[in-house]
Amino acid sequence: MNNPDPIHSAGSSADQPLALQMQGIYKSFFGVPVLKNVDFDVYHGEVHVLLGENGAGKSTLMKILSAAYKADAGRILIDGQEYHFNHPQEAQRAGISTIYQHLSQTPHLSVAENIFLGDPPLTPLGLLDWSEMRREARRALDLVGATIDGDAIVKNLSVAERQLVEIATAMRRQARILIMDEPTAALTERETGRLFELIRQLKAKGVGIIYISHRLEEVAQVGDRVTVLRDGQIIGTQPVGTVSVVQLVSMMVGRDIQHTSLPPLPGEVREALRVENLSRPGHFDNISFGLNWGEIVGLAGLVGAGRTALAEAIAGAAPAASGQIYVDGQPAAIRHSSDATHYGLGFATEDRARSGLCLALSVRENMTLPLLARWRESLGRFWLNRQREVNLTNNHARELAVRAHDLGESVRYLSGGNQQKVIIAKWLMARCRILILDEPTLGIDVGAKEEIHRLMVRFAREQGGAVLLVSSDLPEVLKLSDRVLVMAQGRLQGVLNRTEATEERIMLHAVAAVEGVIKRG
Ligand SMILES: Nc1ncnc2c1ncn2[C@@H]1O[C@H](COP(=O)(O)OP(=O)(O)OP(=O)(O)O)[C@@H](O)[C@H]1O
Ligand SMILES: [Mg+2]
Repeated sequence: MNNPDPIHSAGSSADQPLALQMQGIYKSFFGVPVLKNVDFDVYHGEVHVLLGENGAGKSTLMKILSAAYKADAGRILIDGQEYHFNHPQEAQRAGISTIYQHLSQTPHLSVAENIFLGDPPLTPLGLLDWSEMRREARRALDLVGATIDGDAIVKNLSVAERQLVEIATAMRRQARILIMDEPTAALTERETGRLFELIRQLKAKGVGIIYISHRLEEVAQVGDRVTVLRDGQIIGTQPVGTVSVVQLVSMMVGRDIQHTSLPPLPGEVREALRVENLSRPGHFDNISFGLNWGEIVGLAGLVGAGRTALAEAIAGAAPAASGQIYVDGQPAAIRHSSDATHYGLGFATEDRARSGLCLALSVRENMTLPLLARWRESLGRFWLNRQREVNLTNNHARELAVRAHDLGESVRYLSGGNQQKVIIAKWLMARCRILILDEPTLGIDVGAKEEIHRLMVRFAREQGGAVLLVSSDLPEVLKLSDRVLVMAQGRLQGVLNRTEATEERIMLHAVAAVEGVIKRG
């Protein structure tokens, strides 16, 4: 892939004034320190990248800046003046805006309403001034180059569009400091390129940007300076050009990372899963493929190609309208996710907040949820053994380095990446034989990503399971897949085996249908 051009400022950031200084920030939750004496600053017109493992404290630091949390100690200065925020709106008024790790809009309201959420324009009579709101929303959208209709309902927009609405909202509020917490996690390459272009324009306007990402290649593409946070402490701050990705990784994790590779396939081939002519109008059309025991098959394609809908159909979350699924050579009637569990199929969804986790339950309870369903099925034979549950969850949490103070605490309080690890652990524990993983390493730090890869390979090659890996991370797909299926516009556009698969070939299939390069037979 061609990376977008780097976005470094012309001069060094030092000839720009400091927009923000955070000094000596401390924060603990329930007596456990999460940030320890953190100093962090941003110049006007600069992108300062903030890196760190899952749970390092990045989002917490940013929530203190945006006044969602209150620091236990420390100072915040904006343009040299000290502020004490008591409410997020005060931080907003001081020019701080956040594009959250999980999009925070009100989905059933219109774009314009979201842009003015909290302080809509009023007529002299104190009524909502709709025409002014529409006009100003349009201006804000134009400013970020968004062609989205201000009357569109937010829940009908793509992730990239929703993000543009958030940035437009920030611009409407005349943000001077913009926090972007994993903004590209759910974007396609093209959308990412567009976001970087927008960042370039924001920099030129003097906006200071704090950029959090687990995609290390983005540091050089978008950053001016980079700071690494580990266990709540600053490890170092450097100009981007002076530090390599390898150095950054070792600053982040403080140890060497073991890289996983895919051992050769065993000779014998037996089919684990087969789908024939699976269709769901408007989502995917006439999909047929097979997956063998011991195999990892990648499902690549652009966001919106129909991959998640297909995965949901196989896993019973949203059944297909027509077609047949076979497990172990036998027709499988999968109309509901409990049917899928019955056939030994596990499905880790991409949207952890919505369908992957029960936020009200503890980490341990979340990990054992699918297990409970199976134990219930065979209640006569099993007692739900509390000690066994504790041992199992402890082991998996350790293997995946799930960072929680106590597995009995609510999963709600885990960092984004650690929540994702709990989802993966839950399916590995469920003793499934076939795993469908939708974007399993989205928002996962480099070290934990390797752990998840290692577990996937072990699950397939050593335990004889089968994995369908839906991923937009092409290096991940290439590294782990025996075969790569490429979807575009709801259709299977190509199947590449391991030796012929390259990023270019996958992308060719993925965009060909969209751009009409390949004619459909
Ligand atoms: N409201 C809260 N209550 C209790 N603990 C919390 C709360 N918010 C965060 N934490 C804890 O603080 C630590 C830092 O979390 P934070 O979300 O800042 O990490 P992060 O660096 O953003 O990680 P990720 O890359 O996974 O998003 C984690 O151990 C997390 O469990
Ligand atoms: Mg975070």
